[in-house]
Amino acid sequence: MQRYETIAGIRQALDSQRRTGKSMGFVPTMGALHSGHISLIEASKANNDLTVCSIFVNPTQFNNPDDLARYPHALEADCQLLEAAGCDLVFAPSVDEIYPSNPVLKLNFGDLETVLEGAFRPGHFNGVGIVVSKLFNIIQPDRAYFGQKDLQQVAVVKRLIRDLGFQMELVRMPIVREDDGLAMSSRNRNLSPAERREAPALYQALIKAQEILHNEGTIEAAKTAVESDLQKHPDFRLEYFEIANADTLQPVSQRLAPGATALCIAAHLGKTRLIDNLIL
Ligand code: PAJ
Repeated sequence: MQRYETIAGIRQALDSQRRTGKSMGFVPTMGALHSGHISLIEASKANNDLTVCSIFVNPTQFNNPDDLARYPHALEADCQLLEAAGCDLVFAPSVDEIYPSNPVLKLNFGDLETVLEGAFRPGHFNGVGIVVSKLFNIIQPDRAYFGQKDLQQVAVVKRLIRDLGFQMELVRMPIVREDDGLAMSSRNRNLSPAERREAPALYQALIKAQEILHNEGTIEAAKTAVESDLQKHPDFRLEYFEIANADTLQPVSQRLAPGATALCIAAHLGKTRLIDNLIL
């Protein structure tokens, strides 16, 4: 596996591969890798001649400086995991390499960013959009792999690809979970042992809401059940639970066709913010 820290270095390596007609899959990450990330690498490997992974903790997408400061870093362990998974190239640039100066550009994703994560993390999707655009320009992949774990991010990046005319396909991959249902996340490393034991309550709340809706319960009944279930866990502070269109992320007043309704949740557990979702 080849590792690059500079834009010029990875560009040169990829240009020579591209000339031989190889197809390229790209997995952008912020590192502290887990099996969720590795599932994206495996999907890319299955459908492309070459797989590129980027590891870059992008400061412009953190609206909360404490969250950025607490974000885990594990570059050497990450590279070992990627090597074992058969990733071909890793791009792990410094902040100065990606941002020689602070971008003044502001991206606005309209209705897509006024809800859910966008509403609670002002500026987050601007930062995601800018870094993903930069990475797409550098790597120029045929396919880019994103996880359903960040469902709104998938919608935002789809819009970015469409609006800026990037010539690539976005592939959305399912959420990989721990045995107890907790969605894998780099931030799970920040949970204390006691918090880690409580954490699956978030997914259990989604399952409860799913059951209510499958049994013809109302959206209001599902919301009330989620709120009261999480109140039983005093360390959890619910930020939102919404039932939304899985493509537009706009709230819905009733269940849509199979695959089109998303149950989305975000909560603080101690100092750690967790998100999860489930598509009906
Ligand atoms: P990061 O949180 O590292 O996630 C990288 C990719 O892995 C994202 O597409 C995310 O949805 C996916 N992922 C995370 N947890 C997953 C899980 N449990 N199952 C499946 N996929 C999972 O998302 C980002 O980084 C950044 O915003 C980034 C796109 C790299 C831009 O900075």
